Order: sequence, then structure tokens, then C-alpha cells
Amino acid sequence: MPKQTLDQLIAAGEKIAMLTCYDATFAKVSAAAGVDVLLVGDSLGMVLQGAENTLQVTMQDMIYHTKCVAAGAPNTLIMTDMPYGSYEHDIEDACHNAQALIDAGADIVKIEGGEFLATVRHMVKRGIPVCAHLGFTPQSVIQLGGYKIQGKTDESAQKITQDAINMHAAGASLILLEMVPANLARQITEKFKIPTIGIGAGIDCSGQVLVIQDLLGIYSGVASKSPGDYKAPRFAKNFLAESGSIQQAIANYVQAVKNKIFPAAEHSY
Ligand code: KIV
Repeated sequence: MPKQTLDQLIAAGEKIAMLTCYDATFAKVSAAAGVDVLLVGDSLGMVLQGAENTLQVTMQDMIYHTKCVAAGAPNTLIMTDMPYGSYEHDIEDACHNAQALIDAGADIVKIEGGEFLATVRHMVKRGIPVCAHLGFTPQSVIQLGGYKIQGKTDESAQKITQDAINMHAAGASLILLEMVPANLARQITEKFKIPTIGIGAGIDCSGQVLVIQDLLGIYSGVASKSPGDYKAPRFAKNFLAESGSIQQAIANYVQAVKNKIFPAAEHSY
């Protein structure tokens, strides 16, 4: 079966089910469960490496895990995060790093923030599809003062909307919205033909993404802290609790996204 393209996925008119993935075994299981897009997220810094945040993840890490995922799911679309420090400083370096991720097996690269319009234009001109991650951007967790919902004030909502408009104009293929009010995500989604993918952004995005450890209910915070001190984010849902197997849990997530059952109001802001 040939790999589905993003355009085919959009043309199918269904909600897009995206899930993070970092290795070949989970890639294979997730593909069999019907996941549309596997996100090799730099969340691997936290869920695989046990760090406090995503900031120490390197290009080598992302290349390695992208290759692992591509080996396990050769027919599934793969999106890979450009890690902190790999795209912010120099446009040529950014294009070179994006190309390295594409060569490792990614179909789309994801960058965080609305500032890097010239970089996105260059990547798109060179045939590299880009997703713009807006709202709460984990690589800016220190500047943002922690894991906080974004877009609550008029000013912040306008900034996120304008960033989405600019990224769309620069040629981004997808907009990922993290931890923004559901109303704002709906308004942004209604503006564009390109899909929006939500995580803590309500039901009206064109698709959803979850971190697989959250879907399985197995993440309990950074390695150095006691699991009892960890509170899962509002948008996380443990699908394994009501499923007999990991593959069934992932399949139930996919169906819940497609049937517009997940995220429910309790997972949204
Ligand atoms: O790195 C990641 O897993 C992500 C998701 C939280 C969207 O960017």
C-alpha cells in the first residue's frame, strides 16, 4: 500500500488522528490501529529521556527516532519536530536540518512559534512541508512561565490568530494548536483550508494529537520526581483503562477522534 499523502488525508474529509511515536514497535502497532499521522515529537525528551522539558533534545535524537518510526510504519505519514536550537538562528542551517529529518523518513517537519516566517518560506520553496506549532509552545516553557493555557486574553488570542494567518501565507501545510481555548481554535480552524491539529484545543480542530504515554496512562512526570506529585494535563485521556490491549486503546482513540467524541468538554479549555 503506498503512503497516503497529506492532500489525500485532507480530501478524505475525516478528522485526522495523530499520535506521538518514537520507535518501530509502537509505529507498527499505531499504523495497524489506524493512526493517520505519527508525530516524532521532541516530547521524547520528557517521556523517553526523563528530562524536565524538551530543551535538551538534539538533531541526532530526532534523526534516530525518525528512522526507527519510519522503519516500523513505512506507509504512514510521519511528522518530526525540529528540536530547540535547530531552526531559530540561521535559515540555511534550518533548511539543512529539516532536510536531514526528511532524509531520515519524515514527511513533514514541525517548528514552534510564529516568528520564523522567512524560514518556513525557504523550507516550503525547497519542497519541505512544514507544520507551525502555535499556542503553548513547549520549547518556550521557560519564557511562558510554565505549562499555561495561551490565548485567554484578547491580545494573546489576536497574536495566535495572526501567527496562524502569517504561517498559512508563508506556506505551512498544517497548524498545530496546543492549550488554547476551544473557541479560539474553532475560529482559527474556520479561517483556513489547511488543517489544524489540536491538543487541549477543543473538538473543532481538523484533527487531534496525543502523546502516546498519555493515551496509555503511563506517564507520571519527570524521572526525578515521585509519581504521586504528578497531575496529568486536562487534555490527556487514558484510553488503555477501557481497552484490552495497547492496539485496541490506540484504535479507540482513533475512532473517538473520527467520531468527534474526543476531546470532550472536560479535556478542553
Ligand atoms: O513533542 C510533542 O509531542 C508535541 C505534541 C505535544 C504536540 O509537540
